[in-house]
Amino acid sequence: MNKRTAIVLAAGKGTRMKSHQPKVLHTIAGEPLIAHVLAAVTACGVERSVVVIGHGGEAVQVYLGDQVDWAWQREQLGTGHAVMAARPQIPAGVGTVLVVCGDTPLLTGETLARLVAGHEAGGALATVLTALVDDPTGYGRVIRDQAGKVIGIVEEKDATPAQKQVREINAGTYCFNREALFAALAKIKPANVQGEYYLTDVLAILRREDALVAAQVVTDSREVLGINDRRQLAVAEAVMQERLRAKWLLAGVTMVDPTTVWLHRQVKIGADTVVYPQTILEGETIIGSGCVIGPATRFVDSQIGDQVVVQNAVVLSSRIGDRCTVGPFAYLRPGTVLAAEVKVGDFAEIKNSVVGKGSKVPHLAYVGDATIGAGVNIGCGTITCNYDGEKKHPTVIGDGVFVGSNTNLVAPVTVGDKAFIGAGSTITKDVPAGALAVERAQQIIKEGYRKRLNQKKGGQDG
Ligand code: UD1
Ligand code: CA
Repeated sequence: MNKRTAIVLAAGKGTRMKSHQPKVLHTIAGEPLIAHVLAAVTACGVERSVVVIGHGGEAVQVYLGDQVDWAWQREQLGTGHAVMAARPQIPAGVGTVLVVCGDTPLLTGETLARLVAGHEAGGALATVLTALVDDPTGYGRVIRDQAGKVIGIVEEKDATPAQKQVREINAGTYCFNREALFAALAKIKPANVQGEYYLTDVLAILRREDALVAAQVVTDSREVLGINDRRQLAVAEAVMQERLRAKWLLAGVTMVDPTTVWLHRQVKIGADTVVYPQTILEGETIIGSGCVIGPATRFVDSQIGDQVVVQNAVVLSSRIGDRCTVGPFAYLRPGTVLAAEVKVGDFAEIKNSVVGKGSKVPHLAYVGDATIGAGVNIGCGTITCNYDGEKKHPTVIGDGVFVGSNTNLVAPVTVGDKAFIGAGSTITKDVPAGALAVERAQQIIKEGYRKRLNQKKGGQDG
């Protein structure tokens, strides 16, 4: 079998991004550009990838870990030089080398698979992926002879005015025969405007040697968008968002205004869920079916059950059970777990807490580091005082407890099953099951107070 290896070029500085971060770590749909590229490479059936790193390479290594092999290109002398840096990692047994740029995140696994299959079936020593675009500015132009055969690629900066008119561009994605690639790379020279070793020169060298050089034109030219600056990053984000939305719309999700829904790549949404405008679903968020999400809601790394209603909320690393309602204007911070049928209403914040089935935190409350049983009512204005200035302490509330409005629960404190807490209490001691705890000064009544006051001021009775 023809062993295949991919080389992903990711050593460049990405000067045009004007960033401290290496270009390939800039994100679209919540993942670095290089992660999208590697996902496509893996999906196309090429199992091993060598990533060429240089500028900011340590950060790229930290992000990708040990899922790929590495080649260092200490000085960035061009794309051809970068591929040469990977040579020690491509043993002689490898037949096809797929070269992909780390800054083309919209390429799909299908396109790469078609490129590899076409290359291997056609017997070319090199096959370049190309696209026909309306605006070829910034890309290498594909130069063909009169018979339509590729004779080379000319970079924009080296192109003649006539060559600049060519609308067929180099996607920066290629398949090579291993031996032919490295033999030709040994011959390239930095004789161009940028003084770089261009990988693209390999094609002209092979053609001069009468080798078969093929080209495959992509059907959707948007796939080959190369990210060189933040404008292109924004365009790629828009294209990726459109793809992700289309995927979930076709899977049975309703989006009232899809253009305002923003999705990360790993997000999953169940059928018959309705997503209202301005909703952002990030990280590894999974939403069940029959939910109503939004408007203006943000989920990060959260799991949501079925038939859940969430409006105007921010939900971070939390789990929400079936048939819960959350919001408007609720904030669920990391570690919140809501069992089924919980209601969290307006202006409630919950952090690192478990709320049992059917319990309610309907309005204006802070619940932190608490374990709340089933069927509990947390009155308006209730606060778990979980922080003593140094440490966080737990609050435990049993099943069926009624917590009156404006209660302070000074942790650590435990309230037993079915206990009552009178409104306005500051609870500092544990409350036994079934008991009533009230902590407030006795109310004083002074009859006829208004009249006496007015008399003192010399005014009328009243
Ligand atoms: C390159 C192609 C161009 C093509 C375009 C597609 C060359 C000479 N030009 O141009 O024909 O149309 O991609 O997007 O190949 N890199 C390194 N080491 C280097 C230089 C670059 O690893 O020394 C990496 C970069 O990190 C990047 C990729 O190679 O991921 C492409 O480099 P870039 O400078 O963006 O090339 P383009 O000018 O876009
Ligand atoms: Ca580029």
